Amino acid sequence: MLRPFLSRLSSSLPVAALDHVCICVSDISSSIDWYTSVLSLTHAHKSAEHFWPTDPQSPAFLSPGLALFPLSTSTSPIRDHKGAHFALSVDASTFSRAKNGGLQALLHQHRRHSRQSTFVEYEDYGIQKSLFFKDPDANVIELTLWGDECHDADLRSLERVTFETLDGISLRMMTPASPLYTSSYSDSPFHELPWFGFLWPGGNAIAKHVLSNPKIVQGKTVLDFACGCGVGSIVSLQSGASRVVANDIAPLCLEATRLNYQESLNQGWESVSASRAGVSQEEGEGEEEQRMTSNENDIEYVCDDLVGTSLLGQVDVCLAGDVLYDDELARRVFPWFQEMADKGCEVLVGDPGRWVLNEGTYDAVIEHIASYPLDPKVSDEHHGLHTGNVWRVLPRS
Ligand SMILES: C[S@@+](CC[C@H](N)C(=O)[O-])C[C@H]1O[C@@H](n2cnc3c(N)ncnc32)[C@H](O)[C@@H]1O
Repeated sequence: MLRPFLSRLSSSLPVAALDHVCICVSDISSSIDWYTSVLSLTHAHKSAEHFWPTDPQSPAFLSPGLALFPLSTSTSPIRDHKGAHFALSVDASTFSRAKNGGLQALLHQHRRHSRQSTFVEYEDYGIQKSLFFKDPDANVIELTLWGDECHDADLRSLERVTFETLDGISLRMMTPASPLYTSSYSDSPFHELPWFGFLWPGGNAIAKHVLSNPKIVQGKTVLDFACGCGVGSIVSLQSGASRVVANDIAPLCLEATRLNYQESLNQGWESVSASRAGVSQEEGEGEEEQRMTSNENDIEYVCDDLVGTSLLGQVDVCLAGDVLYDDELARRVFPWFQEMADKGCEVLVGDPGRWVLNEGTYDAVIEHIASYPLDPKVSDEHHGLHTGNVWRVLPRS
């Protein structure tokens, strides 16, 4: 009697985990380079029997969990994967960096041929967020982050604070109303310093200056360097900038900028139109048009250290709110700002007046152009500070 014996064997098998996915590639060694450079996978079992390169007909093994199977030269790569793909999980900070320009930059940098797509598609599935893109053989890769690791909800839990002196702009801020305000670093869900949760005095001064002088940014490409909560990006778009690049090395600053901008779009810029009731008819019409055409894609997010890189011709205006708080950063940024100014970029530095500006070293480099009283909410948060200043970086010639 074979039957009862077999039926006892038919209960399901307790699989431990997905071990690996095997995909086909046309040039195995350059695909290894690509996966190593773009996604930090490592080439494993290099000298093991039955693995590439010891056996050139066998797959190369990359850790974690990806086998690259060499296509024979007579086999053409699959053109349409009809939804087939594999997914790699990343932590929240890596996901945010990838989503905010980091992945696209890597795809450009490691592009192997002109047909290779560098397109990155973002999908928000509620409990899961994903980025889809292709390797050089058009295999579809997903980078994914599951719900409880996403910071959207944590950012949305911060209070939306309205700054009346900045035309009623609202930003998600870390205030005493939030338990995070007093939580220890280890208890916080954010694994980075919460720069994004405050409007800093320098950012306040720059924002006020742009709102009071919209022509500075109208029709221009603006770099909001060290964007923090994104105030510089938002006021620039509100004031008619044609394009904004929001840049910060902290991924959550870009998430916060995205959220603050999205929410200000939803709010419909109403507060701006109300407070600009005094502008001329012509200017008012221009602003109306700007409000109507603004959308989420107006900001390009760049999570990278751009200091020292050449932005020749790419940026007309650079806003730098409160970037002199750290000695090393302060000394690094000035030569870069000067280089930008030399190339015709208007570089504006907002600061409460830190030592670096008072020691004389930069007297010939910058000119003081405006002072503004800080918004009462910013003064309350930054005890003892009541004024924000704006300096313009002078070209050398
Ligand atoms: C004091 S906050 C100012 C934020 C915002 N501009 C404001 O005024 O409200 C300083 C910001 O500089 C960013 N930062 C530091 N070094 C940077 C770098 N090399 N490139 C871009 N951002 C940087 C930090 O992550 C932080 O968001």
